[in-house]
Amino acid sequence: MTTDTDKRAAAAAAVEMVRDGMLVGLGTGSTAAHLIALLVDRRPAIEVVATSEASARAAREGGLVVRDFAGISRVDLTIDGADEIDSMLVAVKGAGGAMLREKVVAAASDRMVVIADGSKRVDRVGAAKLPVEVLPFAERFVARALAGLFERVEKREGVETDNGNVILDGHGWRDADPQRMAAAVASIPGVVGHGLFLSEVDAAIIAEDGVVTRLER
Ligand code: A5P
Repeated sequence: MTTDTDKRAAAAAAVEMVRDGMLVGLGTGSTAAHLIALLVDRRPAIEVVATSEASARAAREGGLVVRDFAGISRVDLTIDGADEIDSMLVAVKGAGGAMLREKVVAAASDRMVVIADGSKRVDRVGAAKLPVEVLPFAERFVARALAGLFERVEKREGVETDNGNVILDGHGWRDADPQRMAAAVASIPGVVGHGLFLSEVDAAIIAEDGVVTRLER
């Protein structure tokens, strides 16, 4: 089994949760791309909102009905990937740079389900880089503040988010506690969002070597 096969297996298991009439939030990334492809194949009677311009484009090109999230306050079910997910369903997201919209859509969702291959499952989050979305005006100031929280802070050169911001990745968390890290990062003026999902995830579907495991909050 390849990692990609497992990503597809997790996405396929999540598609079984989609019911006609739902408004479904589409995640971003390579696992979410499998989800979108499967929905395009099956064509359930749903409408979708997307967590990135890339996912919106893929869904629209596949013929799904994509609604503008700006006019929406509640989503039935969101399905999205993750970079790390632990047994408490705390997740790190944002390797693809879409964590801000992903978190907004997740928070608006009655149910948020992470889909992932087994490499994303960890005992405790913190080994992955933590992506931080930053107002360009505040880039240098935020980088200096983040240096107190991470061993190394790297700007994603040439990357602009869908919201017109920059991304600084924090490598090597100085504090292993995700709650404290999330609070510390969010408290820096100029930080618009970050990839730590403390409470948004309701369930996870992990596929490893073809075996699908479900975690529930
Ligand atoms: C996008 O910004 C991310 O949050 C992705 O959901 C996450 O990085 C997982 O991506 P893959 O499914 O490509 O591993």
